[in-house]
Amino acid sequence: MPDVSSLRAALLDWYDAHARTLPWRAPPGSATRTDPYRVWLSEVMLQQTTVPHAAPYFERFTTRWPTVSDLAAAPDGDLMAAWAGLGYYARARNLLACARAVAREHGGLFPDNEAALLALPGVGAYTAAAVAAIAFDRPANVVDGNVERVMSRLFALEAPLPAARPELKRLAALFVSEDRPGDWPQALMDLGSGLCRPKSPSCEVCPLAFGCEGLKAGEPARYPLKIRKAERPHRHGHAFVLRDAEGRIGLVRRPDKGLLGGMVGLPTSDWNAAPAFDPPSTVNWTEAGAVEHVFTHFSLTLTVHVGVGDGDFLWTEAGEALAALPTVFRKALERGLAA
Ligand code: ADE
Repeated sequence: MPDVSSLRAALLDWYDAHARTLPWRAPPGSATRTDPYRVWLSEVMLQQTTVPHAAPYFERFTTRWPTVSDLAAAPDGDLMAAWAGLGYYARARNLLACARAVAREHGGLFPDNEAALLALPGVGAYTAAAVAAIAFDRPANVVDGNVERVMSRLFALEAPLPAARPELKRLAALFVSEDRPGDWPQALMDLGSGLCRPKSPSCEVCPLAFGCEGLKAGEPARYPLKIRKAERPHRHGHAFVLRDAEGRIGLVRRPDKGLLGGMVGLPTSDWNAAPAFDPPSTVNWTEAGAVEHVFTHFSLTLTVHVGVGDGDFLWTEAGEALAALPTVFRKALERGLAA
């Protein structure tokens, strides 16, 4: 088994020299920590998407809502619109619920320990550990996909995901220490995204190569082993781009529960193997092609139809609609506008 303390020291040295500069990050070894609000916000966004995609959202959010209390005071619709494009919209609703709990129940200050963080709405084990470690410099076991990959390679773990998860968490816990607890998980994440990448890891420059069992075994990229996922089903649907006499777009507010819950959307049919053509309004519809989108649990082809009419919709200027719509509807609207 690799020697934990020398691996730990080697990775922190590497982090001192190579840490990414990120808008939510205190530089390595820094005595000042990042505002917990910024850590929490960045972690929620990063569970969703990559650093380059999240960074502009992070900048926009923190400019518009500089504190958690500002965010707590935001109308739901503003927050949902600002989240558009980040995906998995239940997170945006949880984000607001959490901000409001911090503002109301904690006087606008995030609690400084993992257990109290975990009690906040929408905060799971990963986020509680990340905020405790990164914002409050508390020893906490922060385990995301990057950390799982690094651990599975270091220890050449033959058990496949997802069953290996508890074992990977136990291995990651071996490295949790009172020494630089906030820098440690960030160092692991930078290693995971920069060198110990899913495909073609850069073992030749890896600071942990000297103790990596996966590398010693000859094929580090084989780890983590995975049970093959069931194929994603494919669904179809119709999406309707309805314009009024002024050219505004007719949007609908989606039900709170379910996919894209609480977001604005285009009117659509049901999404299934063979959806009925059931437009929201009896106008002349013209087909404008189709768009594809991949969700976590299924992929979707939406046939786009355009028409002119009126009725009981959220009538929205096209530019504003493009900014506020979740990605799948933004694609459909773009297709409709190009027709
Ligand atoms: N991915 C998720 N959280 C991160 C963080 N704090 N720094 C860098 N990458 C991350």
